[in-house]
Amino acid sequence: MFLESLSLHNFRNIAQLELTIPAQGVLLQGNNGQGKTSILEALYLCATGRSFRTQRVHEMIRHGESAARISARFIRRGVRHVIDVSLQPKHRVITVDDKRLPATSSLLQMVNIVAFFPDDLCITKGPAEGRRHFVDRMVANIQSDFLMSSVNYAKVLKSRNHVLRQSQNGIDPVLMKTLDEQLIGYGEKIHTYRSQTLKALLPLAIEIYTEISMGKDPTPNMELTAGFLLSSEYMSDYKTNFKKTLEKDLPRDRALGMTSSGPHRADLFISLGNYNSRQYASQGQQRALVLALKLAEVHMLRSILESPPILLLDDVSSELDSERCSVLFNDLVQSEAQVWLSTTGAAKLPENPKMSKYEVTDGHVNLLNS
Ligand SMILES: Nc1ncnc2c1ncn2[C@@H]1O[C@H](COP(=O)(O)OP(=O)(O)OP(=O)(O)O)[C@@H](O)[C@H]1O
Ligand SMILES: [Mg+2]
Repeated sequence: MFLESLSLHNFRNIAQLELTIPAQGVLLQGNNGQGKTSILEALYLCATGRSFRTQRVHEMIRHGESAARISARFIRRGVRHVIDVSLQPKHRVITVDDKRLPATSSLLQMVNIVAFFPDDLCITKGPAEGRRHFVDRMVANIQSDFLMSSVNYAKVLKSRNHVLRQSQNGIDPVLMKTLDEQLIGYGEKIHTYRSQTLKALLPLAIEIYTEISMGKDPTPNMELTAGFLLSSEYMSDYKTNFKKTLEKDLPRDRALGMTSSGPHRADLFISLGNYNSRQYASQGQQRALVLALKLAEVHMLRSILESPPILLLDDVSSELDSERCSVLFNDLVQSEAQVWLSTTGAAKLPENPKMSKYEVTDGHVNLLNS
């Protein structure tokens, strides 16, 4: 799938903008603070219904204006669609082909996008939450009922935690058993989907990382933890292990007023060689690792969906040396995805004459090639 055009009105520092984009994509270059990330943010908002920078709609509306509007025309499986996003300070309306969306999540089935932002370095550097989010967004792109299992799991978890907090004077064993059974059921689904997706992703990520690092770095690896110990005593059976853990942890969970084990506590252990990438990998290696994961996701989605997703890479060239940049760029071209790139230093990136190249200055764009 790919975008044909993107238009913005009063979005961030952009008063009015109309971009026409070839199927190969676009390179946005320009100095700091000119509007490159804002353009990518607008596209991401159309694709997902959310910004990657803020949850507050008013921050995205151009200062001094009362509303903003974005429109994206795209082709999916040979059919043209239009997504319109209208932003008012406390209000956001999204329509697809002039029909209001029942839920923002239905956009996921409509537009497939893989995005890399500088903040994504938190996948290797930051807390487990960022890694879970990365995995879950990827799974949701592939498994349409994953989101429902996640929502249901979160609901049961909330109820269970509420019961734990109210349990000073005793606990209703029947209610607890019901909640545990539901938690284990949804939990197993979540864990299975996550594991299956990562199993398919890992060989691709290793191949891409080895390519980007030109075989000079140790081999990366990824391991998903369940959010509790999978003891061999129960033949590593997920449901039995989770059940036994909930039973064992009950006194502590009551004292804490929350459930301390389960997929909401899962983590993805990413290593380079035999070392945790968080402590061991350099800044550039961490960036290359995250990029390899995202590119692996593109390749995986392309084979599952039979067409590549849109790939969005903000400020991709910083911290990568020019050799790694050019290998990465070749991989982008081979992925056949429509690529949206932003950079302050275009000199490092090889030219692709099929991509449009725009200079972004003070919220305006100027086409540099034709
Ligand atoms: N609501 C808003 N109204 C007007 N201007 C805004 C608004 N929000 C942000 N800006 C400004 O928009 C400009 C563009 O920001 P953006 O993040 O898109 O820049 P950029 O080109 O990606 O820069 P960098 O290379 O530093 O990442 C900045 O100067 C920022 O202060
Ligand atoms: Mg930026």
